[in-house]
Amino acid sequence: MASQHPPKRRKLSNEAFPKLRDAEVQKLRELPVWEARQAVLEGICSNQVYVIVGETGSGKTTQIPKFLHQSRFKKDKIICTQPRRVAAIANATRVAKEMGCKLGGLVGYAVRFDDASTPETKIRYVTDGLLLREAVADPLLQQYKVIIVDEAHERTLDTDALLGLLKRMQRVRKDDFHIVLMSATLDAGKYASFFPGAKVGLVQGRQHTVQVMYTKQAQESYLDAALTTVLQIHAREPVGDILAFLTGQEEIDALCNLVRSRGLHTKGADGQEKLHPVAIYAALPAEQQAQVFETAPLGTRKVIFATNIAETALTIPGLRYVVDTGVVKQRSYQSRAGVDLLAVVPISKAQARQRSGRAGREAPGKTFRLYTEAEFEKLEATTTPEILRVNLASAVLQLKALGIPDVRAFDFVDPPPLPALMARLPVDPRYAKILLAAAGSGCAEDAAAIVAMASVEQVFISGRTEQQRQASMQARQRFRRPQGDHITALAVLRAFLATGKGKRGEWCAQNCISGRAMQRCHRIFDQLCGLLQAMKLPLERLGDNQDPEPLQRALTCGLFLHAARRQPDGTYKVIGTGQEVSIHPSSVLSGSKPDCIVFNELVFTRRNYARTMCSIQIPWLTELVPSYFTKHIAR
Ligand code: CDP
Ligand code: MG
Repeated sequence: MASQHPPKRRKLSNEAFPKLRDAEVQKLRELPVWEARQAVLEGICSNQVYVIVGETGSGKTTQIPKFLHQSRFKKDKIICTQPRRVAAIANATRVAKEMGCKLGGLVGYAVRFDDASTPETKIRYVTDGLLLREAVADPLLQQYKVIIVDEAHERTLDTDALLGLLKRMQRVRKDDFHIVLMSATLDAGKYASFFPGAKVGLVQGRQHTVQVMYTKQAQESYLDAALTTVLQIHAREPVGDILAFLTGQEEIDALCNLVRSRGLHTKGADGQEKLHPVAIYAALPAEQQAQVFETAPLGTRKVIFATNIAETALTIPGLRYVVDTGVVKQRSYQSRAGVDLLAVVPISKAQARQRSGRAGREAPGKTFRLYTEAEFEKLEATTTPEILRVNLASAVLQLKALGIPDVRAFDFVDPPPLPALMARLPVDPRYAKILLAAAGSGCAEDAAAIVAMASVEQVFISGRTEQQRQASMQARQRFRRPQGDHITALAVLRAFLATGKGKRGEWCAQNCISGRAMQRCHRIFDQLCGLLQAMKLPLERLGDNQDPEPLQRALTCGLFLHAARRQPDGTYKVIGTGQEVSIHPSSVLSGSKPDCIVFNELVFTRRNYARTMCSIQIPWLTELVPSYFTKHIAR
């Protein structure tokens, strides 16, 4: 199904990157993989499955596909997967630059809804999810001679599903092709034994010593501790940039703003005038993402506030100091509660070591762990693979779409506990259900808009100054719909689409809305509409002044596991499970407190917050999902 609607081709610039200067070429040649170049090439050529283990920053992602292209595989297609779209884009851009070609020419990338590659592309960076979808059309991935699964240690769900498929492919495909797994950690034995005949090769990194410091007492707030530590490093430590690990966009933006205001007055130990804060997280627009790789303006010290994306996926030069809060935001499925929790949880020891390692790439460094040594000792040794902790519905759907009827018999590195599920739309089953329900009541197009808006993280830009924040609040207020966040999001997308193409940039700026997020959303919306049409479903929309009740009902059908009812004290309880939740302050419903809501997800910070919600009427639940609610409402 997905293959009938390939991602939109992006308009590619015809400009090639200028050739690298000699000094830059020299620097590349100093990367550890260059020393191991011959061994790496031989390892890949003489084994069908080859596992390469090497420290982050040793050059695996950017150099190895290039080595292959420059040797035996010049005419062949090489594909390299990344668990995150940011990494696919950043690495493709970097390699195109190193090779002096244009992006989308010899080197390109493709991520969901954004394709910057052409038939000429020989080195293609993609997300592992995208390669999974390509496998729908071509289960043997015939067009690729070398398939590189990068960041295999991250064990994302898509990576794991891909590994299972590759193993099947290894049995069936008889031509000369090569599977390469790349990992930054040493637990490679596990994948190696998963693939019959696989060999492991080590790239010896040059790691400098990193001094690890712990706090004496447990910290009450890791955010306060992180800010204080960053300012202290700046005031006391010699030259070198700082990388601080936080858990998400809101925290990162907040600390960047704080440093921007307070850092101005702190003189650095080496006479730097001020700190130069930079943010990096998955939802950040590409232009801003590029800033983490740039050197800080003269006389400043760069401090990067990052999510775990900077652990291994992106290699950032110039770092000497790491601030490790010891936490990460992770999605996990609570089958007992029936909800997906996005929770801030302690990292594993392996992650803590990866974070520390970031400080010692170029010179000796220091890591400030914002937790005690005793707390470190209590951490799990490694992170649980995603496949063992999330709602497996989408993975199961993908596998079914790939023509694997019995997912239970599928070969996984770590076999998951499997629910039995089916659907025909390549979206989360909850969203598929919303779309189908809406199609039955004349508002599928609106539902597609809502699902598209739910797929992009942040549409409103909060702004840096008080004045910008005011403007942003006012803009949100203009679009606010009393039924909740979904219907509000629909109003935003409708207004965007009603604006003439040439005026959309200006419209976004006026309304404090991210133009990039809206463009992405627009592309997803178009694709969803295409899919619905291909399924011969009526693509209809409600009139501008029509009551959105059919949509609220459709949302109820899809999100019923996340239906919550207001309690006399003003908090909410999830109906099926009795779990207590509060309305997230970012919701348009945070002031109005309707009797009953359905919500997209639960965010766990200091309390359980429901996020992105819609008000509904209690009788709809038994009417629309009787099998589930007759039991729970009666209770
Ligand atoms: O994959 P691995 O972690 O082994 O290394 P890499 O990502 O290929 O990075 C190799 C070198 O390229 C690093 O030293 C980075 O500083 C540099 N690099 C960069 O400057 N900009 C990028 N977008 C990616 C890598
Ligand atoms: Mg890499």
